[in-house]
Amino acid sequence: MSTATAEAPPQSPYERLGGREVIQAITDRFYDLMDSDPAYARLRAMHAPDLAPMRASLAGFLTGWSGGPRDWWEQNPGKCMMSAHKPFAIDAEVAGQWAEAMSPAEPLTGP
Ligand code: HEM
Repeated sequence: MSTATAEAPPQSPYERLGGREVIQAITDRFYDLMDSDPAYARLRAMHAPDLAPMRASLAGFLTGWSGGPRDWWEQNPGKCMMSAHKPFAIDAEVAGQWAEAMSPAEPLTGP
């Protein structure tokens, strides 16, 4: 007799984060910061003037990567992230800017 049936399945990171809405908000905050704070000027200059396509693409990528709907993969069959980044001169400084812009101290929602 199995004893495993009573346990709820573990939540995916996607569910724990709050789903697509929160992932889009995190992504938008990331690009808002990149677009407005001179600390991220080198990173911003690597991106196209219009950030709207990246707001959709990165949010879609993170949604599927964290265990949510995989629309981005269906729309980008076989896309390799290493190859997508190859044209850019990414060094430690600009990689640090990416990571920093993705992790600001302020929470997404206030108390
Ligand atoms: C190491 C620091 C990184 C730098 C400097 C960087 C830079 C860039 C640039 C310049 C683009 C093209 C933007 C444009 O066309 O306007 C891009 C595309 C993209 N990046 Fe990054 N990136 C970094 C890390 C990451 C990470 C960690 C992820 C995922 C978690 C990611 C996900 C994406 C996605 C999904 C695209 C769009 C690809 C496409 O649709 O062709 N990037 N990145």
